[in-house]
Amino acid sequence: MSRLLKLIGRPIINCLNKPAVRHKYLPKIQELIQYSRKEAMLSACLEYVHWAEVKGDYLEFGMWKGGSMIAAYHLSKRFESLSDMKFYGFDSFQGIPPLNVNKSEAQAFPPGIFSASLLEVRKNLVHADVDMSRVELISGWYSDTLNHETEEELGLRAAAIVNVDCDVYESTVSVLTFVEPYLVDGSIIIFDDWYCFANREELGEQKAFNEWLERNPRLKATPYKEFGWDGKAFIINRLSTEESDSKDIVMTRTIDGKINFWNYGAERLYGWRKEEALGKVSHNLLRTEFPEPLEKIDAALLQNGKWEGKLVHAARDGSRIVVESRWVLDDPKAHSGKVVEINTPLNE
Ligand SMILES: C[S@@+](CC[C@H](N)C(=O)[O-])C[C@H]1O[C@@H](n2cnc3c(N)ncnc32)[C@H](O)[C@@H]1O
Repeated sequence: MSRLLKLIGRPIINCLNKPAVRHKYLPKIQELIQYSRKEAMLSACLEYVHWAEVKGDYLEFGMWKGGSMIAAYHLSKRFESLSDMKFYGFDSFQGIPPLNVNKSEAQAFPPGIFSASLLEVRKNLVHADVDMSRVELISGWYSDTLNHETEEELGLRAAAIVNVDCDVYESTVSVLTFVEPYLVDGSIIIFDDWYCFANREELGEQKAFNEWLERNPRLKATPYKEFGWDGKAFIINRLSTEESDSKDIVMTRTIDGKINFWNYGAERLYGWRKEEALGKVSHNLLRTEFPEPLEKIDAALLQNGKWEGKLVHAARDGSRIVVESRWVLDDPKAHSGKVVEINTPLNE
């Protein structure tokens, strides 16, 4: 018997070891017996929210046929603490939308790619033994569904895991703006396509995430895990006022300058207390000297969603303070919206 095994075993091993066979079929065999990159990631994230006691639900943006939600649901069942976790899936169920902002994204993700109907996805979930009483599927373009009415309708609680798998910049902008109020200290955000544009910061999920962090200086993102060739997850912490103040001087205001948020750092630098600053027009309060006419700066802000430059401010005691100023429109699409202004004093 052992002679027979030797006789046929060696040629089989030799054949499997041929590069053409090994590199073509080994990954396929591995796929069958190991978790896929998405499953491995979801497994780690669910384990993390269990042990780190991060309470909240699973929100997925980009369902396609439902594969990752099915995995998340079953993997969560290993942990008693996650037994009341709900699973929210947001998708057009018509694939990727036509893209307006960037040509290379539009080429990589043509409209309609990854399309699966709501009915098909429901069927897939049911077929995979997912308890549908714990699932909500929200159908429509994010520009139409990620809004206050949906929040009210769903009565969303906290988000422990946010799985961003909608590939492109514009969709990710809508998602991040929508989820921000639901993130708790320690929530995870998974980006399935972090590296898919050759790690270019000016495209895709990276661009949307970096801009969002700039607009939300109270949030800190710590890289958690990378997965596959293109995915990356972050843990989000909400900084206390003191922690965020130690870094930046932050105010938020309307486009025409009325202050509606003023942090301790701003109190310390300019000498105006929060109660005194709120409601005032920042450029009057700080007697701002601009490097070019304000109308020009506002036009650039509206067009690009941000502006950066050197400003001269006057503190309460009249002293002049030169700052490097970064202005970001809270929602680049809402041109009447809030401006986040972050000022870093320059020692001149
Ligand atoms: C790569 S697929 C998701 C794959 C899925 N998570 C899986 O693991 O099988 C991307 C999904 O994002 C959805 N999507 C992208 N942008 C969207 C938008 N603006 N509104 C609604 N759905 C969007 C598409 O419909 C598509 O189903």
